[in-house]
Amino acid sequence: MSFFSSTRDIPEVRAVPRHVAMIMDGNGRWAKKRFLPRVAGHKRGLETVRVMVKACIERGIDYLTLFAFSSENWRRPPEEVSFLMRLFLTALQAEVDKLHENGVRLRVIGDLSRFDPQTVALIRSGEALTAGNTKLTLTIAANYGGRWDILQAANAMALQHPEKLGCWTEEDLAEHLAMAYAPEPDLFIRTGGEQRVSNFLLWQLAYAELYFTDCLWPEFDGAALDQAIVSYRSRERRFGRTSEQLISQEEANGDV
Ligand code: IPE
Ligand code: IPE
Ligand code: MG
Repeated sequence: MSFFSSTRDIPEVRAVPRHVAMIMDGNGRWAKKRFLPRVAGHKRGLETVRVMVKACIERGIDYLTLFAFSSENWRRPPEEVSFLMRLFLTALQAEVDKLHENGVRLRVIGDLSRFDPQTVALIRSGEALTAGNTKLTLTIAANYGGRWDILQAANAMALQHPEKLGCWTEEDLAEHLAMAYAPEPDLFIRTGGEQRVSNFLLWQLAYAELYFTDCLWPEFDGAALDQAIVSYRSRERRFGRTSEQLISQEEANGDV
């Protein structure tokens, strides 16, 4: 399957973003404010994941991608890393059937080689079980890094088409990216107040609208998502063109 590429084509702009990608940040600070251990924030953050899945289905969003654990998060204290791994495993055990009942297709992207075999088996069976669902595609980025993704895609592309050395195209590479099954994100949301991408979807965010909020992830909800969508709607998505070109195109389409 091949989608519009923001650098090759002009993607269709809809009132509701088709694909929303989120950096779920601020769990630790949420817990600290309440004199709780950081891991209590991660546990509470899982509740927001459930809320967001429902909110995205209700709003007609087709793809929700959540950054759960970055390639750099291994640098955290070992107790926090192992808590996050256990939380991921128990969440998979508890949620996959519910996701399936709600028509959600589950995908996990990232370097799974560092996960234990039980977790990998659960991921693969969850993906297989939900493969035919169409309400929402929920992608969890786990041990994911944008640089890892581009590099693994480049290696796969070079192996597949060694004869094209020096002539590879964007499409040759894009088809090997971990999320080749999804269109590029329209809207990127980062909670927790930091204004950075932290090695998330580096290739795919080329033309995403960026939205940053101070709201901490455990406090993010449907109303906060709506605020992000309002901001998204106010943006003029030019994809390199001028504002005048957009207006004359709308006139030609009879949109005004
Ligand atoms: C995001 O919350 C969750 C993960 C990175 C797993 P943080 O744990 O980064 O929370 P803060 O940024 O310390 O508040
Ligand atoms: C980004 O959050 C990664 C995830 C939410 C999984 P971090 O809290 O790890 O990002 P930095 O270190 O502040 O950039
Ligand atoms: Mg953080």
